[in-house]
Amino acid sequence: MHISSFLIQEGRDSDYAALSDLMDVMRAERVPDEPSAPLSERQVAWRSVPELYRIRTWLAWEDGQAVGRAEAGYPDVPENAHLLHTLFEVHPAHRRRGLGRTLLAEVVTYAETLGRRSLLLSSVSNVPDGEAFLQRIGARPALEMRVSRLELADVDAGLLDRWLEAGPAADFELGFWTGVYPDEHLEDIARLYDILNTAPRGELEVEDVRTSAEELRQRDRSFAATGQRRWVAYALERASGRFVGFTELDWHPARPGTLSQGATGVFPEFRGRGLGRWLKAAMLRRVMLELPEARRIETGNAQSNAPMLAINVALGFRPHRTLINWQLEVEQARRYLDG
Ligand SMILES: CC(C)(COP(=O)(O)OP(=O)(O)OC[C@H]1O[C@@H](n2cnc3c(N)ncnc32)[C@H](O)[C@@H]1OP(=O)(O)O)[C@@H](O)C(=O)NCCC(=O)NCCS
Repeated sequence: MHISSFLIQEGRDSDYAALSDLMDVMRAERVPDEPSAPLSERQVAWRSVPELYRIRTWLAWEDGQAVGRAEAGYPDVPENAHLLHTLFEVHPAHRRRGLGRTLLAEVVTYAETLGRRSLLLSSVSNVPDGEAFLQRIGARPALEMRVSRLELADVDAGLLDRWLEAGPAADFELGFWTGVYPDEHLEDIARLYDILNTAPRGELEVEDVRTSAEELRQRDRSFAATGQRRWVAYALERASGRFVGFTELDWHPARPGTLSQGATGVFPEFRGRGLGRWLKAAMLRRVMLELPEARRIETGNAQSNAPMLAINVALGFRPHRTLINWQLEVEQARRYLDG
């Protein structure tokens, strides 16, 4: 066994091919009913990851095959300089032989070199090995998320009509950004993303982030390169001309059956007026009208996010799996490795 490492934008074709094969295996374990992206699409995505995102990958090789990988990354922004987002995966046929531990040692040394003292990790309920590993190495569960699915055939069209009619249209205008964001509104859109700082974080020790227009621009460039599609519905206050809420939906046209419902946010001072329901209903109505190939929408919410879950459950989203976000101090990981 040997380990190689590269920045995600700078892999060789052979690294990408091996990584993609391993990802197919891991994905089949996690979400067996969802198709994987082909290597060609993943390769474009990796090469066009925004420059702002510093993501390093380690591959554990055996007989020319990648049997394990680790990833550690951070956005190059002022906030959360203590954090490193990480991921560990070992091929099911190669588990319980110390590969996870070996990959952890690489990432911990990297974190120490960078001076980042805390790792973020995640596990899913249908892959219990991940949770057992994280408990053993001393990570603590910090935020539980519910991944839910809405089968579009089950959507109650009457409910959508009622929510659309009840929208506060006298005071707010509803619209869509389709594809890359318009340059003239980038700064306003960046401020909309600040709303996400108010979403529940459980016990995660993370700071607020201030999204920059430059980060949105880089994300949009990589989106465009990969062919990913995105609709964002927004609400604009008529009196002030201020954007006050939004909801995102994205998908890849090669796999149009499942759409991904991304972030939704309404500024705290505009909550309680039906904007969240209005935005969600408008998005869903557009999906029903314009995307006949779509069969379902998947989304993730903190289990403690009662207002968002109430809207999603009323729309017909049903729990599919649980995802746990964990946090691990680098010092604790070092104690495990040295123990
Ligand atoms: C998590 C994962 C990477 C572990 O890989 P691995 O190569 O099997 O891990 P190791 O053999 O190095 O085990 C490291 C330690 O965790 C323990 N451990 C690992 N899997 C375990 C399990 N299923 N049950 C109990 N303990 C387990 C090992 O016993 C070992 O403890 P030790 O140091 O006392 O000997 C692998 O199970 C996996 O890919 N899971 C799916 C992806 C995932 O959920 N990752 C979560 C972290 S981001």
